Amino acid sequence: MRFNTLDDMDLAGKLVLTRVDINVPVEDGTVTDATRIERIVPTIKDILAKGGRPVMLAHFGRPKGKVVPEMSLRVTLPALEDALGQSVTFIEKPDRATLDALPEGTVTLIENTRFTAMEEANDPKMAGFLASLGDVYCNDAFSAAHRAHASTEGVARLLPACAGRLMEAELSALDAALGTPLRPVMAVVGGAKVSSKLDLLSNLIEKVDHLVIGGGMANTFLAAQGKPVGKSLCEHDLADTARAIMAKAETTACTIHLPVDIVVAREFKAHAPSEILPADACPDDAMILDAGPATVAAFDTLLQECTTLVWNGPLGAFEMPPFDAATVRAAKLAGIATTAEDLISVAGGGDTVAALNHAGVADQFTYVSSAGGAFLEWMEGKTLPGVAALEAAKTA
Ligand code: 3PG
Ligand code: MG
Repeated sequence: MRFNTLDDMDLAGKLVLTRVDINVPVEDGTVTDATRIERIVPTIKDILAKGGRPVMLAHFGRPKGKVVPEMSLRVTLPALEDALGQSVTFIEKPDRATLDALPEGTVTLIENTRFTAMEEANDPKMAGFLASLGDVYCNDAFSAAHRAHASTEGVARLLPACAGRLMEAELSALDAALGTPLRPVMAVVGGAKVSSKLDLLSNLIEKVDHLVIGGGMANTFLAAQGKPVGKSLCEHDLADTARAIMAKAETTACTIHLPVDIVVAREFKAHAPSEILPADACPDDAMILDAGPATVAAFDTLLQECTTLVWNGPLGAFEMPPFDAATVRAAKLAGIATTAEDLISVAGGGDTVAALNHAGVADQFTYVSSAGGAFLEWMEGKTLPGVAALEAAKTA
């Protein structure tokens, strides 16, 4: 992977169109988690330090090509100004003359790129218009790089372009995890459904040495092996697919690991009475809500053996204690191994980050991605259009 970074660009006196992902959660007009905003600060500061004037482009929500006042990016301004420690100029309808007149040191935010349907259509007219607003394009929105939109892809092909600091960090962490990793590599894939992660599983069995399957999707694999799963969440219609994945893994260097013990309950609610059973002993009237301690012990043994870990998805119903136990324990073990410099650990995906935060170990991981969908597509081995456009870009 070869792309320009801010170090390759001469930005003095230039308007730098900077695609950021500040698609943050908001409640009652206030940003409730500013993580994504905080993570673009180094890029904005570096552009300023190099004498450039950053003009931020971003989407917010899914307004479907219409102006939806509740999806105005104005709501992010206080959090942005707070994170940057300076004021941010907001422009609803940008034009080049207005931007040219901005003094050095100004940081600008343009209104939601998705307020026109041309954005998601990657309309060349919109890409051309955006390109006319800047001298250089900088993409710092890895988490939106799976979208081939005018502000993430089209414009990148029209201006000298580079990756911002967050994009750079994401790409180097991902490369360390799956591109050119130190082996053995283990992947942990959890979450509710196999159906949403088929491509990901197929790609991983070609690339990793160990694949740990957890969460609701493990039930589909257990059922495909003929084990009872009672009333568990399970995609019975995907039994053949699960068997095909296990058969394919037999032909690759990848070993699949399923839970060896399970935590079952009769009710799907926090603190429901539960018991630990072998993985082949789920009662008819019960559901599997977590992996058991023997599964976590097996996970620990694998961790000791592996040099690289890539993690997406919780191992159980982690939002409902005590069914968070396996996820929390496994995350802590990975945190400990990483702190001891025995492991390179990379995690991503919305639920995963929430689970690592819940376990209190997110800051112990080598890298936690800011991306949800883009992280998944990358784990699927797909080319992300926003990244591909950067790889093709010229310097300035
Ligand atoms: C995200 O929040 O995952 C990114 O900002 C992309 O948003 P989207 O899924 O609406 O394209
Ligand atoms: Mg998304």
